[in-house]
Amino acid sequence: MPAGTMAAASLQHRLDAGSARMPPALIATAQASPNIALIKYWGNRDHTLRIPSNGSLSMTLGGLHTTARVAFDPGAIEDMLLIAGKPAPADASRRVSEHLDLIRMTAGHNLRGRVESASNFPANSGIASSASAFAAITVAAAAACGLDLDAETLSRLARRGSGSACRSIFGGFVEWQAGHDDATSCAAPLAPANHWRLIDLIAVVSQASKKTGSTEGHRLAATSPLQAARVHDAPRRLSACRQAILQRDFDALAEVVELDSLLMHAVMMTSSPPLEYWLPSTLTILHAVAEWRARGAGVCATVDAGPNVHCLCASGEAEMIRSGLQELHGVQRVLECPPGEGAMTLTGAE
Ligand code: PMV
Repeated sequence: MPAGTMAAASLQHRLDAGSARMPPALIATAQASPNIALIKYWGNRDHTLRIPSNGSLSMTLGGLHTTARVAFDPGAIEDMLLIAGKPAPADASRRVSEHLDLIRMTAGHNLRGRVESASNFPANSGIASSASAFAAITVAAAAACGLDLDAETLSRLARRGSGSACRSIFGGFVEWQAGHDDATSCAAPLAPANHWRLIDLIAVVSQASKKTGSTEGHRLAATSPLQAARVHDAPRRLSACRQAILQRDFDALAEVVELDSLLMHAVMMTSSPPLEYWLPSTLTILHAVAEWRARGAGVCATVDAGPNVHCLCASGEAEMIRSGLQELHGVQRVLECPPGEGAMTLTGAE
């Protein structure tokens, strides 16, 4: 039986198995962690399908997670999204509803769903909450539909919700092959979480929502005259980063990670209109990290679409770097993340 037909039959079976009066809601809960891009994704060659302009490479962040509970309800007339217990804004609800449409299409049903999502870290501030949220929602929604999908298919589906979510399906060090269409654009593991105990110390300088979300930012990337050069050189940076990770070569990693981050922010700052995600304290931290490294510390910095700075270091250096960060002006708190695991369903959470 084709996968879609099999899924629909199994769903009907589960509906039939409910009480005669009211079929049971189809529920599952999943958890996923955000990831920090070591080689960044910025700009799409296809915005609708979220096919990126360049491949990217990330580390999944342990200790931070989004939990998503998805319940498809035969009695519901529309989808509902709650974030941290509160009804979500209309644009976020619409985005999640469109994402559920993809999973419903795969499952062959049209039941409306209630999605409850909550994260244990600040959203919208350069710690990719959309990555962990869409990875968790994808895994939970697929499980709630009774779909038994492999990780590659889940990664492809998660990508449609938020590009970087395709990497959060996997743990450890993860590479997203840009590909050229829906079938070829998905992430795959490069090395497991225990391959290299790098620590990401996230220096939080603001927890405010960013003014321009990354979906809009990806659309602006092509307006920067620097984007073509950034994309052209991406395969070289990917290769250098891949080798640095596989050989656990911190100095090589630091060099390519910082270059890649600065290239992305150069594109952002030279887009039309320009995007400026940094705050003065962002620069204070970048200067401090450069100074510590010049004095021999194994630390480097990268910044996503927000003002907070991800400081990567070897686990042996983490305590010293952490206390240095805490003393810097503007640093509100420091989150400490080792490489984490991929997305998973939580059994018994319903
Ligand atoms: O997946 P999105 O649309 O949230 O874009 C992510 C963009 C960056 O975080 C800045 C880079 C990346 O590769 O994660």
